[in-house]
Amino acid sequence: MTTLHEPVVTTTPDDLSVWPASTTEPRPGDLAVGGVPLAEVADRFGTPVYVLDENEVRARCRTYRHAFPDTEVLYAAKAFLCRAMVHWTEEEGLGLDVCSAGELELAVTTGFPPERIVLHGNAKSPRDLETALRLGVGRIVIDSPSEIARLAAAVGPGGHQKVMVRVVPGISAGGHEKIRTGTDDQKFGLSIADGYAQHAIARILDQPQLELTGLHCHLGSQITSVKPYLAAVRRVVGLMARLHEQHGLVLPELDLGGGHGIAYRPGEAALDLTALARRVRAELSDACAAAGLPVPRLIIEPGRAVVGPAGISVYRVLAVKRTGDHTFVAVDGGMSDNPRPALYGVRYAPRLIGRASGEPSAPVTVVGRHCEAGDVLAADVRLPSDLRPGDLLAVPVAGAYHLSMASGYNLVGRPPVTAVRDGHARLLVRRESLDDIRRRDVGL
Ligand SMILES: Cc1ncc(COP(=O)(O)O)c(C=O)c1O
Repeated sequence: MTTLHEPVVTTTPDDLSVWPASTTEPRPGDLAVGGVPLAEVADRFGTPVYVLDENEVRARCRTYRHAFPDTEVLYAAKAFLCRAMVHWTEEEGLGLDVCSAGELELAVTTGFPPERIVLHGNAKSPRDLETALRLGVGRIVIDSPSEIARLAAAVGPGGHQKVMVRVVPGISAGGHEKIRTGTDDQKFGLSIADGYAQHAIARILDQPQLELTGLHCHLGSQITSVKPYLAAVRRVVGLMARLHEQHGLVLPELDLGGGHGIAYRPGEAALDLTALARRVRAELSDACAAAGLPVPRLIIEPGRAVVGPAGISVYRVLAVKRTGDHTFVAVDGGMSDNPRPALYGVRYAPRLIGRASGEPSAPVTVVGRHCEAGDVLAADVRLPSDLRPGDLLAVPVAGAYHLSMASGYNLVGRPPVTAVRDGHARLLVRRESLDDIRRRDVGL
């Protein structure tokens, strides 16, 4: 996974640039987030443990509301969802983007207004659609031709459901090929270039129970440049103009998806949200003026950039092994709670916490405890050369696409999630126990 020419990460002790804003280090190794020492969280809740800085999440929601005042901002629940996240995002005035009956039910049963929820999915199950209609979801984003008849039938002749169509603008953007969704060679959306989008839209217009409110496009994830979004605006408004010519259609909404890139290690680029807001707004109004169309309401769906930097994972070192010129530091978590290094080869900047080390740092590879050589959490990072079993390692920027993609591999059980705020830590999601695992294992 590690490409040899990549520099070994060197985080200077005081470089907390990718940690939550509340992070302090009163004494070397005594890292605190939300006013709570991480070592204390590890002692109290065990390891591995995930720590979510509530104020960081809320501040990021507010940053979006301020940068995009006239935009509907939806939190993409797939990044990480639990009842507290539902509560916080609702209180901060965001909507929700969900992509399963499970995410939808959790949100609505936690009190999230269904009309502020958008249901996505390239292959929505009958249960997804039934749940969406039963709970009264705000909009359903149609992603395939076959879904139109299915949804129209489920809504019924007397019913009414707002829908959008996910289109593919033919723009390649995103931090890894597996998270690029703006080109025609991937599973999501309906191609503009091949005319599938226009054809599907014509069919939807024939369904009186389906109200087409807008178009949706999600280019990909971990995008750090504004340019692809501007190109997407031009392509989608271009389609809106053609729909206006052909059908006299004026669509009130344009959903530009999410994908806003963040820094995982000091010095890495992140998408400039203020620039994104300013330039997308300008591009949208210019493109609409040129097409003679009213400006649609903008919708965006950030996930990673809302929760990613607010999360920290804390592991206990179980073994340190030197082989050849490699030092492997094995911890009590791994790909079952964080599959991203194995999936995308991403890099992290872990830190020793809980004690200060006077020893010089040395390059090590932090690996998980799972039965996969690819179970690496952080390759080639500089950490104190006296790392030993029992030590605690904290990994910043662990809030998104970790636990939401966690697995039951090796039946180790998924870690708990704790929230920290104003010096207090509280449990949000408890550790998955063997009892939890056994309860499902019903047959002999
Ligand atoms: C339709 C849609 N919207 C929003 C997102 C959120 O993306 P990110 O977490 O990168 O902001 C995704 C991620 O896959 C997505 O598929």
